[in-house]
Amino acid sequence: MQYLVTGGAGFIGANFVRHLVEHTDHHVVVLDKLTYAGNRESLADLDPARVELVVGDICDAELVNQLTAAADVVVHYAAESHNDNSLRDPSAFVNTNLIGTYTLIEAARTHGKRFHHVSTDEVYGDLELDDPNRFNEATAYNPSSPYSATKAGSDMLVRAWVRSFGLQATISNCSNNFGPYQHVEKFIPRQITNVIDGVRPRLYGTGQNVRDWIHANDHSAAVQTIIEKGRIGETYMIGADGEKNNTDVVGLILEYMDQPRDAFDLVTDRPGHDLRYAIDATKLRSELGWEPQYSNFEAGLKATIEWYRANEAWWRPAKEATEAKYRAAGH
Ligand code: NAD
Ligand code: TYD
Repeated sequence: MQYLVTGGAGFIGANFVRHLVEHTDHHVVVLDKLTYAGNRESLADLDPARVELVVGDICDAELVNQLTAAADVVVHYAAESHNDNSLRDPSAFVNTNLIGTYTLIEAARTHGKRFHHVSTDEVYGDLELDDPNRFNEATAYNPSSPYSATKAGSDMLVRAWVRSFGLQATISNCSNNFGPYQHVEKFIPRQITNVIDGVRPRLYGTGQNVRDWIHANDHSAAVQTIIEKGRIGETYMIGADGEKNNTDVVGLILEYMDQPRDAFDLVTDRPGHDLRYAIDATKLRSELGWEPQYSNFEAGLKATIEWYRANEAWWRPAKEATEAKYRAAGH
């Protein structure tokens, strides 16, 4: 089969393309604009007979139409993905996450193609630290930031296209990913590369915010399971019971990099900073039989630190510009 993977030169998309190459015989066409977040080096070692990179915009209806017509399955990862950027300038988030998704689902319905929409648990807003509930498929949408609001809007478009036009789509809402090929703007790679550079990690606010961490490989396997076995029109939560607060994550990074566990600084908080995310993935586990394979967070974090140590040539070109943006925001 031919898979069209949007955003396949980004963090999670590139890990998914690698998953397809390793575990299936499918041919993969990546459609990626190569924004600041896309990196052709993340795919450079893959066999060109299996993976083709088309540099283009998901808002380009003619290109999207042509690539969708040639595909059997469209898997939609492309997005503006970083909350801090969305607070500085939301315009690209509205274009890519809303207009881009609209352009793709129009093409998928025109050509009757199977569509999988990749989304985030951030569409549900946040939880109190002591709330016994976790997000599930029935949780009400309550996004906080321009990023999560545009992702919520894109989910709603897909749901409406399923109901109104019979689009053959599924949706997944996953928690925070970590692993190789993640841009240095995101929390875990930023802190690892700061420590490599001799800079103290920087925690927003009190450092007590909780994220529910999942390895990118587990996310990829879950998405492929949903594409193969999921029911059309359904939403599936993806998570691996990996709740940790930011201080504990940074403490582990510091310990594994031979620094004192408290060698970090607290800095200006992110406006509207979501307190806690937590996922209940019972539906995916019980209906489709998916189980995480990388749920030892400590082992995954150590391997991720090693990956950033071994792949400085991959991340170094983005580091200074990223830190300049953070300096301007007081982070
Ligand atoms: P990323 O920022 O690393 O990658 C996004 C990719 O999309 C980049 O390669 C970029 O060049 C491409 N892109 C951006 N705008 C485009 C456009 N207009 N046309 C074509 N390509 C474009 O993001 P990520 O962290 O890999 O996230 C991928 C998807 O997974 C997103 O939809 C995100 O909402 C979702 N998600 C992310 C997380 C997470 O923890 N990072 C968790 C759950 C869901
Ligand atoms: P991030 O990787 O931006 O993901 P998200 O906002 O989508 O959850 O941030 C993860 C958590 O880490 C979040 O609570 C914000 C916090 N954070 C810091 O404390 N310091 C940092 O330098 C960054 C980038 C994030």
